[in-house]
Amino acid sequence: MSIEEDIAHAGKLIHEGGVVAFPTETVYGLGADAFNPTAVARVFELKERPSFDPLIVHISSLDQLDLLWKRKDERLLKLAEKFWPGPLTIVVDKNNAVPGIVTSGLNTVGIRMPDHPVALALINAAGTPIAAPSANKFGRISPTRADHVRRQLPGINFILDGGDTRVGIESTVIALEQEGFRLLRPGAVTRGEIAEVLPEIAGANHDKVKHSPGHMHSHYSPRKPLYFISEVPENTANQNVGLISFGKPDNASHYKKVEILSDSKDLKEAAVNLFRAMHQMEDSDVDLILVEPVPEVGIGLAIMDRLRKATFQYKNQT
Ligand code: TXA
Ligand code: MG
Repeated sequence: MSIEEDIAHAGKLIHEGGVVAFPTETVYGLGADAFNPTAVARVFELKERPSFDPLIVHISSLDQLDLLWKRKDERLLKLAEKFWPGPLTIVVDKNNAVPGIVTSGLNTVGIRMPDHPVALALINAAGTPIAAPSANKFGRISPTRADHVRRQLPGINFILDGGDTRVGIESTVIALEQEGFRLLRPGAVTRGEIAEVLPEIAGANHDKVKHSPGHMHSHYSPRKPLYFISEVPENTANQNVGLISFGKPDNASHYKKVEILSDSKDLKEAAVNLFRAMHQMEDSDVDLILVEPVPEVGIGLAIMDRLRKATFQYKNQT
């Protein structure tokens, strides 16, 4: 089948209440009709995701906002003009029509227009906004290629294959509140870039951190122990150790396997390769994975956010 036929088929599946995995510019999503609670329930079930963690609703045109938001918000429109389609999710008060299962009972909804031709065509073909989390099992590594989805979620009927994702790390999530915005999850769109578009509210909630209900300390974990290189446990002498390095390592021969995030230490390139490198390590014969920290500027903040969560459970075991 051609990709056009695949998209038409997937759109039909979603229209009929099915669940489909699809590419976006960030990571692959696991999508269902946002207005079909039974289909959305199936997404939670397939992912083994706790019901208190709300889903992002994906749209292909601004006309669809009226189905989702409680009232028009000029601030969202300004952000949309600059960043959509793109890796920014905006949380606003929800329309009553949005089923509670999508938002885990919150009165807000996260909305984003993905910057991927296949995702946009799929939403159009389905004729409805699509609720979708990342297409991984809950707590595991996010998928950046169709094969990652296939291996973690063998139970899903259909995967649209759009090749490797271009950004590699999930969208920035912000909440628009009366007094300002809160950054709920760092991503490719930075706080500074958002503040440039909304200077009048940029300062308001600058330092207040509020976590999304689904934001755990531990997440994105490979099934093998992962540690920052500075936090290696002591008893690792006889183990096969893998290294995920930011740039070219000078002691590559010490390791059983090395994944380089970016030869030129470019943070955007590192973000693209991060989850793929973690998947490669998970699937290899190493027993233990070490990772080098990256500078916390720009998308480096998002990379370190994911790495802290991915290393959390192991750090707290020893
Ligand atoms: O790039 C992405 O955002 C990908 C692609 C598929 O779009 N999706 C994704 O979805 O990463 P997920 O479900 O893995 O992460 C969405 C995050 C969750 O941590 C959730 O708590 C937060 O967004 N979120 C969604 N709706 C929210 C709401 N109404 N209030 C607060 N946080 C919300
Ligand atoms: Mg996720």
